[in-house]
Order: sequence, then structure tokens, then C-alpha cells
Amino acid sequence: MLLLRLRLIVLYLCFSIVNSHAEDGRKLWLRYIKVSDQQALNRTIKTTSNHPVAQQAKQELDNYWKSTNLQLTINRKATNLKDGFRIQQNKNGLELIAQHAVGLLYGAYHLLNEQELGRDFSSYQIEEIPSFDIRILNHWDNLDRTVERGYAGYSLWKWEELPIQISPRYEEYARANASIGINATVLNNVNASPQILSSEYLNKVKVLADIFRKYGIKVYLSVNFSSPKVIGGLKDSDPLNKDVQHWWKHKIKEVYQLIPDFGGFLVKANSEGQPGPQDYGRTHADGANMLADEMKPYGGMIMWRAFVYNPTKEDRAKQAYQEFVPLDNQFRDNVIVQIKNGPVDFQPREPFTSLFGAMKNTAQMIEFQITQEYLGFSNHLVYLAPLFKETLDSDTYADGVGSTVAKITDGTLRKVQKSAIAGVANIGEDRNWTGHHFGQANWYAFGRLAWNHQLSSEEIADEWLRLTFSKEKEFVHTMSKLMIDSRETVVNYMMPMGLHHIFAFDHHYGPEPWGDRPSGRADWMPWYYHNANVNGIGFNRTISGSNAVGQYNEPLRTIYNNIDSCPENLLLWFHHVSWNHKMKSQRTLWDELCFYYDQGVQEVREFQRTWDQMEKYVDAERFNAVQSKLKIQSKDAVWWKDACLLYFQTFSRQPIPYSIERPI
Ligand code: GCU
Repeated sequence: MLLLRLRLIVLYLCFSIVNSHAEDGRKLWLRYIKVSDQQALNRTIKTTSNHPVAQQAKQELDNYWKSTNLQLTINRKATNLKDGFRIQQNKNGLELIAQHAVGLLYGAYHLLNEQELGRDFSSYQIEEIPSFDIRILNHWDNLDRTVERGYAGYSLWKWEELPIQISPRYEEYARANASIGINATVLNNVNASPQILSSEYLNKVKVLADIFRKYGIKVYLSVNFSSPKVIGGLKDSDPLNKDVQHWWKHKIKEVYQLIPDFGGFLVKANSEGQPGPQDYGRTHADGANMLADEMKPYGGMIMWRAFVYNPTKEDRAKQAYQEFVPLDNQFRDNVIVQIKNGPVDFQPREPFTSLFGAMKNTAQMIEFQITQEYLGFSNHLVYLAPLFKETLDSDTYADGVGSTVAKITDGTLRKVQKSAIAGVANIGEDRNWTGHHFGQANWYAFGRLAWNHQLSSEEIADEWLRLTFSKEKEFVHTMSKLMIDSRETVVNYMMPMGLHHIFAFDHHYGPEPWGDRPSGRADWMPWYYHNANVNGIGFNRTISGSNAVGQYNEPLRTIYNNIDSCPENLLLWFHHVSWNHKMKSQRTLWDELCFYYDQGVQEVREFQRTWDQMEKYVDAERFNAVQSKLKIQSKDAVWWKDACLLYFQTFSRQPIPYSIERPI
């Protein structure tokens, strides 16, 4: 009897352990429950298409769809649907229609998510068409499996095991991406090792491409512009050298023989020490076009990055515009210039990059950073949809009122061969994929906005919370608000009012506004950006300063140039402001700065209290993990506040108000 009891206890313990693991983050937002045999008998799912992607769609529905009969139809004439789908009633139930098989897959996930969210399908009708043609993740993964600016463990790609051994996570990764409409991925770091183009690695890449294909995902690679010289043994990599062109032609042919639907190359050239066409006195257009011409016969794209700046006297924020605008009209139609959302570097808040819209005849795409290089790594809960939307919805005025960054890049205002949007991935080998459980929301949000940039941050948070954690109203309502607030909170405790790049040197975690390395590049030093002195603080980018405002279209130029009309959340981005300047709140600039830093700290404390109250809605494993991360975030927020205020106080020479939590 005793023995039996003991056995039962052991069994129970084993079950609890297994069960608690089943509740961990590996499943992401994909928590559909398998249909029972009875449920499966009650509905039919049919398709006439044998396409592997259509079969994949059917398989998912066979496994999880409970509601009604479903007919999956490919209608080649439905050209308006592109990669999208339509769902409508037919006499037997619902019909899912797409022009291509991949549309059926997106439709299948859409239906399964709707089912999870408890939608009524009795008179269901919807049409969905993606905002951007190419919805691509950029992995900054190195071949040794470290990840540049990656905070979720080592790379998912186990290069040393490929092409023979295949991790189950490759397929899980592809499925997760397909479920939110992501259809492309760059596997390796923009600071690219030439080795990725060696035959050895291409054979490994092929294996991943073969797995991803079933989920409608195309593989792209970052390439090093010096590859012909480094791995091809040529004397240089000059884009006008015939031997170099020949080398690329052959390499590209080899790639397409292995991977017939290969997407294309991403290139970081003449940026932060990377080689490029300028090494040979050629332009970005010369370099990009040479590759584009060799890609053209296969339908491949060249994504050419505009993240360029050099330590000159010129304001770093102006340099991309200065280098690229004169090249407008010179790029081939399969080249797309990839521009970071802000002109400096993925800061907590930046204005949009002035280059958007400024090249009238060149396709442009936006690059966001999903990984939180400048936002507390995977330790801080920061929901990025509001940041992404802030840029996408910014009006550039390039083609008159309403020329938002979204419309400039999605092909609405200017016809492009293919529109695209990129996000630097926050994914790694961690069991929960992104380090922080809430980092998953940023992967999800990027995918959803790439699919439909009209969705609101609230809608996306709401969906994600319900699919990932719990459908309880109180939980969803409370946590959605917390997520929405979290972006402004991080701005408050790190860099309020347009302050930027005052991070600790190189690793970018934590504050170092005092940072100074005599041997280092001036444009990597925080004082280059905050310019604090006894008179005030901020970067003068007005007409009397660097005149970065001059790169923006009216009315923005005037709005930003004038201290009274410049939005206060960008004030110190565009102006050097005196410590006693009166803010709209009637506080002085110094008091306002203290107020914001403190506000950020208090908000994180509130996040902690809020999360504690969510315990009843969340499994213990994820609850504890998020709770500990919030502890770190709260400690870091105090660190930011104290470090920045004590340092800036040496210039402002004013007391820190007693109304805030003062550094001790
Ligand atoms: C930032 C980041 C680098 C990265 C670079 C880029 O500067 O710190 O690690 O390589 O951006 O986007 O190319």
C-alpha cells in the first residue's frame, strides 16, 4: 500500500514537471488544441491542390480545425489577392480562396487564430492582402553561432551539425513565422563572413531553405563585398572588374542550382569598416547594380543598406541622406535600399530617417530592430509595436500630405517591383526563443505589422496576449495597457525628450553619458550626442547648428527648427536647450528631465505590482520568469535615473527636486 502511494506520488511529480514544461514559452502563440476523433468526423476539409504548401495548410487544419466544413481553393485569376486570401461562405460551410498556395497557408493560420480567439463563423467573410511583398527577418547570426546583439542564447542555426543533422526547431521556426505572415529570412549577420558563400556553407543553407519552403519562406544571405577576393582568390573585389563580375555570376548560379527559389542578398557595404565599392572609387549604385544584374535572370533581389556614416565633421544623422540622395535614379529595379527607422541607430526614440521619400525613383524599405540592443536587451519588457507604428505612421510630406513612411515603402505612393520590410530578429536558441517571454510579442508584432500596417498596437497586443497567455478579460485588459505603456516608460528612464546614444560603450547596456575614450571615434562617444554644458543640453540640428532639419520636407523643417513648435519628445534631438527653458508643463528643462527619469522608475515599479496580480492567470514557470526580469528592469531603471541625473547635474548645477526619488 505504502509502495503504491509512493509510486503515485512519484508519478504525480513527474507529470507536474512535464506539464509545467508544456506550459513554457517554446510554443509561442501557437497553442492550438488537437481535434478529437469525434470533432474530426463532424467536418470535412478539402483541397484539390497538391502543392506542398497547400498540403501544409490542410494538415494544420486537419489537426486543429473544429468549426465547419472547409474548402481550400486556388484561383489563379484572383490576382488582387497576391499572397493574401479570401474567406467566404459557400453552401457547405466556409471557402478559403487564394491565388497561390501560400495564401491558403496564411488563411489556415488566420482561421485557427480566429477559432482560438472565439470568433463566430456563422456569417464569416474576410479578405486579407499583405501590406508588403517581402516580410523579412534579418538574423545577425555569425557562423560560430554567436549572435551580434542577440540576447536569447546562441544562434538557432547549428552550422556544425548541418547539413546532416537537423534540429526540430528549424521547422518550428518556419511554422511560427508563417503563422504571422513572415515570408523571408536572412540567415546571417550583416557583418558577413565571406565563408557563407563557400560551397560547404551553401550546402548547409540549402537544407534550411528546403525546410522553410513548405512554409512559404525564402532564404536570403548577407554577403561580404570582398568575397571574390577573400574566398575567390581574386586580386580585388572591384565591381567594375570583369573577373569580379564573373566570379559573382558563377557564385549566384551555384546558389540557384542548390536553392531555386533563393531570395537574394543583403549587403552592408562601406559601413562601420565593412568593405564596399567605395574602396575602389565606385559608388553604392555601382556595387548594388553589379550584383543586381547577376541576380536578375533568377528573379533575386539586392537589399542594399543605407546605414552609412563616417567620423567626419558632418552630423552622423545626416550622412545616409547625403550619400544616397545623389544616387537616386541610378539603381536597378531589383535593388531596394534598406533604411533604418531612425537616422542614428535604433534608439529608444528617434524621428524617422529623412531619407524616406527623398529618393523619388529608388525603391526603399524600412529596417526595424526587434532585438533590443538599445532597449535593455532581453531583460526589459518593452513592447515595440508603438515604436514601429510611430515611424510607419510618420508623414514625410515627400509627395504631399499623407506621404507616410508606410505608404512610401509599401508601394502605394510609388510603384515598386517589390515592396519590403525588415526586422532584425530577437530569436535564439533559448527555450522560449527570445530570452524574455514578452520578447515574443515583438516578433509577433513585427510580423503582424508587416502583414497589415493598419493594425493598431492595441489590437496586436490583445491578440498576442490571448493566444499566448490567457483569454481572461482582466488579464488581457491589464497587460495590454502595460505593454502599450512600456515603450514610453523605457524612453522615460533611459533617454527622455529626444536624448539619444548615451549608452555604455560598445555593449549598449546601461548608461554612460560621461563616456569618453580619447582613442575612440568621436561619433561613438555619448557627449557627441548630448552636448551637455553649463548652458544646457541637446544636439543643435537646427539651421544654426548641423541643419539636419534641412533634410526634412516642409512643414516638418520649420516645426523641428523652431524650439516652440518642436515636439517636446524630440526637443533635445533637434535643439541645444538651456537648463532653465520653460517646458509646456511650466517646469524648467532641468526639473522636467528629473521628472521624466523618475516617472520611468515609478512606472516600472507599477509594472511589477501589476504583474504580481496576474499570478492567477499565468503558469508558474512563465510567471516567475517575467517577475524576475521585471526585478532587473526596475533595478536598471533606478541605475539609469541616478547615473544620468547625477552626471547631468554637474552641468545644470541645480538641485534634484525633493518631489522625486532622489539618488542616495
Ligand atoms: C549597430 C550595431 C552593430 C551593427 C550595426 C548595423 O551599430 O551596434 O552591431 O552591426 O548597427 O546595423 O550594421
